Amino acid sequence: MGPANANLPRHIAITMDGNGRWAAARGVARAAGHKAGLKPVRMCVEECTRSGVEALTLFAFSSENWGRPADEVGSLMSLFLEALDREIAELDAQAVRLRFIGERKSLSVRLQARIAAAEERTAANRGLALQVAVSYGGRWDIIQAAQSLARECSNGSIRPEEISEARFAEALSLAGLPDPDLHIRTGGERRISNFLLWQLAYAELYFTERLWPDFAVADLNDALSFFASRERRFGQRPAAVSAAR
Ligand code: FPP
Repeated sequence: MGPANANLPRHIAITMDGNGRWAAARGVARAAGHKAGLKPVRMCVEECTRSGVEALTLFAFSSENWGRPADEVGSLMSLFLEALDREIAELDAQAVRLRFIGERKSLSVRLQARIAAAEERTAANRGLALQVAVSYGGRWDIIQAAQSLARECSNGSIRPEEISEARFAEALSLAGLPDPDLHIRTGGERRISNFLLWQLAYAELYFTERLWPDFAVADLNDALSFFASRERRFGQRPAAVSAAR
């Protein structure tokens, strides 16, 4: 097991990067790299469930990923469909509540229907809250929240002055969940790349060179140990300093 419970993040967000490079290093198609990326997804779900992490949010396909060649986009969409069909019973058995965040209307009708069915099937589960971000962008999320609040203002159900941080957060895709307190990015880049822009405001940021398909329990435990060693201040002074004053 990883670090002690007291220092366990409640919500982990992961940018799963490096599938393409993993595939290139083996001389196989990029699609094979994405497929190999399912194994660490399963591992993370199991580990989070086991250690009592409340929520896990995975960046599977960004708004910008639509710009990739059509065959790669197609293979990723097929992978999401297959993974949903293959994994949903096991996720349900683990009491996982599965939800998708992102611009759903840009997905195929078939995928939208499968997503809705999976969400419905697991909606009452009380285990890990698992969010898969597909066709997701942090700016898109903020814009759609702004639009929905603007609609409420224009129909008179709220006044502009009533828009607080809490109210705004409730209009975002992760409404009802604590903000992620740990963000992990594999594959060596040190960027947020338009993931959860609002919700990562105070997250600890952990970057590893490990390519996503190679991300193993020991790597997750390294990230959890990093998290456990951080002193989180949220813009305040350290507890020891304020206690001494
Ligand atoms: C980034 O690697 C990864 C993706 C764009 C796809 C991630 C999707 C999965 C791991 C499948 C998970 C599926 C579910 C249902 C959660 P990259 O292609 O940008 O890699 P590179 O930087 O090495 O080219």
